[in-house]
Amino acid sequence: MEKFKNNLSRRNFVKESSLITGGILLAPSILSSSPLFKNEKVLKLAVVGCGGRGTGAVSQALLADENVKLVAMADAFQDRLENSFESLSKMFDQSRLKVKPTNKFVGFGSYKKAIDEADVVILATPPGFRPQHFEYAIAQGKHVFMEKPVATDVVGIKKVLAAAEQAKAKKLNVVVGLQRHYQRNYLEIYKRIQEGQIGKIVSGQVYWNGGGVWVRPRQQDWTEMEYQMRNWYYFNWLCGDHILEQHIHNIDVANWFIGEYPIKAQGMGGREVRKGKDHGQIFDHHFVEFEYPGGAVISSQCRHQKGCMNRVAETFQGTLGTSHTKGNSGILTSYAGDNLYDHESDEDKNPYQVEHNKLFDSIRGGGYLNNAEYGAKSTMSAILGRMATYTGKVVTWEEAMNSSHKLVPDEDSLTWDAIPPVVPDEEGNYTVPVPGKTTLF
Ligand SMILES: NC(=O)c1ccc[n+]([C@@H]2O[C@H](COP(=O)([O-])OP(=O)(O)OC[C@H]3O[C@@H](n4cnc5c(N)ncnc54)[C@H](O)[C@@H]3O)[C@@H](O)[C@H]2O)c1
Repeated sequence: MEKFKNNLSRRNFVKESSLITGGILLAPSILSSSPLFKNEKVLKLAVVGCGGRGTGAVSQALLADENVKLVAMADAFQDRLENSFESLSKMFDQSRLKVKPTNKFVGFGSYKKAIDEADVVILATPPGFRPQHFEYAIAQGKHVFMEKPVATDVVGIKKVLAAAEQAKAKKLNVVVGLQRHYQRNYLEIYKRIQEGQIGKIVSGQVYWNGGGVWVRPRQQDWTEMEYQMRNWYYFNWLCGDHILEQHIHNIDVANWFIGEYPIKAQGMGGREVRKGKDHGQIFDHHFVEFEYPGGAVISSQCRHQKGCMNRVAETFQGTLGTSHTKGNSGILTSYAGDNLYDHESDEDKNPYQVEHNKLFDSIRGGGYLNNAEYGAKSTMSAILGRMATYTGKVVTWEEAMNSSHKLVPDEDSLTWDAIPPVVPDEEGNYTVPVPGKTTLF
C-alpha cells in the first residue's frame, strides 16, 4: 500500500492506494468527499481498541483531515496494538503517526492514559466497555467517535445517556458508528418517507441473516479472562449477542424511519447449529416482534447459520406504499405499482469515511454533532429484543429500562486472573439462556 505522504496530492493517493475500513475496502470516490486540506491546528487523536474497526476508524480519521495526528493507542493486548500500528504504518507517513512508545498503553486501564493525550478519541473495543470509556472521554472534554453498540446492559445504557447529556452541555461532538445515517441511499429514502411518499409506516421486516463470524479458539496458556476477552463475540458481558452486535444496524433503521422506539417486544430464539464450546453462551438465531407507540409492528430476524438464506436488509410497509433498503440500494414503490424512487448509487461515498468527514468538519467548524442518544436508544432496542428471546416473554421498554441486572463487572475487579462474570462447567460448556426459564434481565 502506498504511504500517505504530505507531498502526495489526494488525487495521486487515490490512484495508488487502498485502505482497510474494518472489513471494507474503500472505494476511491470516498476520498473526494473529505474536506480540503485547510486546517492549521493539529488535532490529536487516540484510539481505544485497536482491532479491525479501531484500525479502520483511525485511517478514516486521518483521511478526513490532514492535520489529525494519531498520538496514543490503547488496547487490552500488546499484540493487537502492535498489529494495528504496523497496518497503519503501511498506509500513513510517520508525520501522521506520532505515537511515542510511551504512548502505547496496554491493559484494562489503558483507555484513561490514551484518552488523556488526545483532543478526539475513537472508542472501538467490544461494546461491554463502551459506557465506561465514553463516560471518561466526555468527563475529560474530548470529542468522540464510538462504535456501535454502545453498551451490553441497561446499566451501561443509562451511563451512556447521562454522558450524552454531558456532551451536549459541553458542546462536544459525538459520532456513533451506525453508518447508515451517513449513507446516501438511506438518507434519500428517509427524506422521502418524511415527505410522506409511502404514508405512515405500519409494519416492516428487518434482517441480518448470515453465516456467522470469527472464533478465537482457547490457547492453553490463557486464563479464563484472557480467553473470554480474545473470543469476546460469544460472551454477553462483552458482546451482548449478535442481535445487538450486528442486527442493531437494521433495528436502528426501523427506529429512525418510524421516528419512535419500541414500547414492547416478544420473540423466540436459541442455538441450533453453532453450539460448540468456543461458542460461549450466545444464540445463533433470534426472531422478534417489536411494537411501536404509533402502532407499527416490526419483525426482526437475525441468524448466524451457514448454508441458509442470507439477507441484510430492511423493508417497510406504509399506508401508501413500500420501502426497501439493502446495501447501496433504496427503492420506494406505491401500492398502485408506481416506482416512486430507485436510488442511483454510482456517486455515493463510503459511509465509514463520511462519518469521520462530518465529525471533523463539525469540530473544525465549531459545531457539534451528537449521535449518542439515538445510538444508546437503538442499542437499548436490541437489548430489549434479546431480553424477549432469552425469556420467551413479552418485555416492555419500561420493564427493561428498570432492569438493574449488570453484565459488566466493575472496573477494579477486571484483572487477567479474575473470574469473569460467566464460567464454564466441568465439560467446558457455558450456561445458555433457556426461554421460559431464564428470567434475568
Ligand atoms: N459499524 C460497523 O459496521 C462495525 C464493523 C465492525 C465492527 N464494529 C464494532 O466495532 C467494535 C470492535 O469490533 P472489531 O471488529 O474491531 O473487534 P476486534 O476484536 O477486531 O477489536 C477489538 C479490540 O479491542 C481490544 N479491547 C478489548 N477490550 C479492551 C479494553 N477494555 N480496553 C482496550 N482495548 C480492548 C481487543 O483486544 C481488540 O484489539 C465492536 O463494537 C463492533 O460491533 C462496527
